[in-house]
Amino acid sequence: MTKKFHMGWFMNFTPPDWQSEWASPDVKNWPDGRFHVDMAQSMERACFDFMMIEDTVMVADAYGGTMEGSLKNAVFAPKQDPVPLAVLVAANTSKMGVVATMSTSFYPPYLLARACSTVDSIARGRFGWNIVSSAEDRAAQNFGLEGLPEHDERYNVAEEYFDVVNRLWDSWEADAVVMDRETNT
Ligand SMILES: Cc1cc2nc3c(=O)[nH]c(=O)nc-3n(C[C@H](O)[C@H](O)[C@H](O)COP(=O)(O)O)c2cc1C
Repeated sequence: MTKKFHMGWFMNFTPPDWQSEWASPDVKNWPDGRFHVDMAQSMERACFDFMMIEDTVMVADAYGGTMEGSLKNAVFAPKQDPVPLAVLVAANTSKMGVVATMSTSFYPPYLLARACSTVDSIARGRFGWNIVSSAEDRAAQNFGLEGLPEHDERYNVAEEYFDVVNRLWDSWEADAVVMDRETNT
């Protein structure tokens, strides 16, 4: 019997390869997302199940304690927001799941629940949320905080957060909007 398996593309919305002979001639336009759409469409044809857009909301300073290396070599920088890219990809594919990363440490739950629900409608049920609580103080500093709460505290918050977001999603029935001209409801 043939053994089936799933395939996913784990990527991010950062500058793609521009140095090698394989680089797209159009590579400078990468921020418009068309390169990623082209890739997603090719992968969909190749029967990939999903793509997952990784994210962190900072420029890393892991090398030498400074952002210099990341900025000079475009290492995960600049990193664009995965959610609008997920919308663009979903609107230009038909079968592939599209997963975007959103952090429980920075998104207010209502905003996240509404954004996910909207993108999932546009994606006709193919959107997924990669749940992270973030791990870098640099990210917290982009939101006016000194640093992140420690690991276990972040995960406690994330657990409650997940419960709240699920309740928000459940607060509308799937058939709540009737649109019946006869009964005007
Ligand atoms: C498949 C996968 C994808 C992940 N994507 C992200 C990401 O996009 N952004 C992020 O900050 N962390 C990401 N992480 C890291 C996790 O959020 C987490 O920090 C890590 O798995 C360590 O787990 P622990 O905190 O339970 O030890 C990812 C982890 C895995 C296994």
